[in-house]
Amino acid sequence: MKTLPSVSSDRLIDEIMGYRKAKILMVAAYLDVFTPLVSPKSSDELARTLALDARALEILLDALAAMGYLRKRGWHYANAPISSLYLVRGQPGYMGDNLKYQEMIWDAWGDLKHSLSKGGAVRPLEYWLLRRKGFTQEYIRGMDNIARGPAAEVAARVAPSPGARLLDVGAGPGTYSLAFLRADPEMTATLLDLPSTLKVTRKVLAEHPRLAARTRLKAGNYRDASFGREEYDLVLLSHITHDESPEVNRRLIEQSMSALKPGGRIIIHDFMLDAGRVAPVFGALFSVHMLAYTEGGRTYTAGEYAKWLRRAGFRRLKNHRIAVKSRNSSRIIIGVKDR
Ligand SMILES: C[S@@+](CC[C@H](N)C(=O)[O-])C[C@H]1O[C@@H](n2cnc3c(N)ncnc32)[C@H](O)[C@@H]1O
Repeated sequence: MKTLPSVSSDRLIDEIMGYRKAKILMVAAYLDVFTPLVSPKSSDELARTLALDARALEILLDALAAMGYLRKRGWHYANAPISSLYLVRGQPGYMGDNLKYQEMIWDAWGDLKHSLSKGGAVRPLEYWLLRRKGFTQEYIRGMDNIARGPAAEVAARVAPSPGARLLDVGAGPGTYSLAFLRADPEMTATLLDLPSTLKVTRKVLAEHPRLAARTRLKAGNYRDASFGREEYDLVLLSHITHDESPEVNRRLIEQSMSALKPGGRIIIHDFMLDAGRVAPVFGALFSVHMLAYTEGGRTYTAGEYAKWLRRAGFRRLKNHRIAVKSRNSSRIIIGVKDR
């Protein structure tokens, strides 16, 4: 009889701890536990500040200390360096909005087993965007938290010609448009998104008045809105194609082709999988995230994007990795419309 290699079951315990750790961190960010802990506090003091139950909060704080997010001295808790940098509101590297969004979308993961029989989300993105109070705010702010670094890199890679006109489809907080506008003082950007999202976009843009003066907001549904005819030098589809089915993506690419001037470029920016679809790990797990809360979305391969782009008539495709050293590195594929 063939003997199986001995493999420890600890790996399975680690995976189970994975969801517990994630939930603890997301709830702590949602309740903004870290902001007051810039100075040490007991669980009783913090419970009074946040209007929470002291016993329950103590249990959560001990777990956060065990995970390395807090330091505990005696009965007082304070932020560990990672929390000071990324989880205290007002810090430049703040990622709390993103964790709040993950907490709000948790129920979609609860539906995952049903998504597998249904073939898509039980409650798709439209439900979360239009019906869950407060979701759009956290979702869009959460995108901004993680977009700042990659946005500057994408703009530098694309290196637009001076005064280029950009259409940013599904612009969300507008972080990518702002990075382009920062890179060239003459560029202008049109940000297309749903009216409910644009309410949040306006607030983000108000924090950058000089750049915002070169933006135009266009409310619409990118699935059926026309993007215009030969109006733009660049069309950016950043992190929207993973929300959509191949059919919708092909249409988005065709609409982009019409909207571009001859010689203009489309830029698709997204998480992308290798041809075998099992690497990188982040992309494979992100695909399940999309299965849980979109109707037809997933993480696509760079090859799939290239096929859709060529079929729409784009030429001279270029593919670059973005944020190579990050766990959630992404790619851009740039295609040119013939003159
Ligand atoms: C994942 S976010 C990406 C935001 C931004 N492009 C970025 O990369 O940070 C997806 C964006 O698409 C927008 N969106 C979703 N469905 C849409 C639709 N049918 N029409 C227009 N915008 C839509 C959402 O409001 C959101 O701003």
